[in-house]
Amino acid sequence: MVEEFIAKAKERISPFPCEGFVAGNGPVSAKILIVGEAPGKTEMKTGEPFTGSSGRFLDDCFAIAGLTREDMFITSVVRSRPYKENGQRDRQGNLPNRPPSKGEIIAHAPLLDMHVQLIQPEMIITLGNVALRRLTGMTKNISALHGQLLHVPLSMYDENSGHFKMGKKSYTLLPMYHPAAALHNPALKEQIQLDWKQVKSLRERKSDAK
Ligand code: URA
Repeated sequence: MVEEFIAKAKERISPFPCEGFVAGNGPVSAKILIVGEAPGKTEMKTGEPFTGSSGRFLDDCFAIAGLTREDMFITSVVRSRPYKENGQRDRQGNLPNRPPSKGEIIAHAPLLDMHVQLIQPEMIITLGNVALRRLTGMTKNISALHGQLLHVPLSMYDENSGHFKMGKKSYTLLPMYHPAAALHNPALKEQIQLDWKQVKSLRERKSDAK
């Protein structure tokens, strides 16, 4: 079934200026689902999510939370790399990354929705505005919500109407800054690390309660 959704996602993204496809990584039995924005140039080479410079910082954050990649299913709102068609090519001839467009987000929405339903995560951690807005339907900025535990229904794409609709079930969702934010704005690094420390205490509290 997953394969069918992947095939469909590849077909749906094909009219857009995007390249490659990075499948989600991790066990479907994972309790935590991590959702980023879209893969970048490094991920096109490695085929794995978050393996570039922001991925290295994200691994540090996972360590702060006492997590390893095997504990989580890691993916992105869009699993192909959106590139700037009129941008300047780098030395390897690659056009620059850009955030995914609405059409691209919709193209890969059924795949992400399917993974949420399949995994039934105890906690969803969104990285950055794109993932937060895609999954909650909110328009708020991550700077207002980072590190705040939410219990919310999810916004899911409805193929029949061509619109996002709120699902019935509520999920525990923790909005986090995208790790790339710390690379662009080093002043945020400490805050991001503090937010991830919270994941550790949340997990400890949960296992004490068991
Ligand atoms: N940024 C993302 O959001 N996802 C990746 O896989 C890599 C960078």
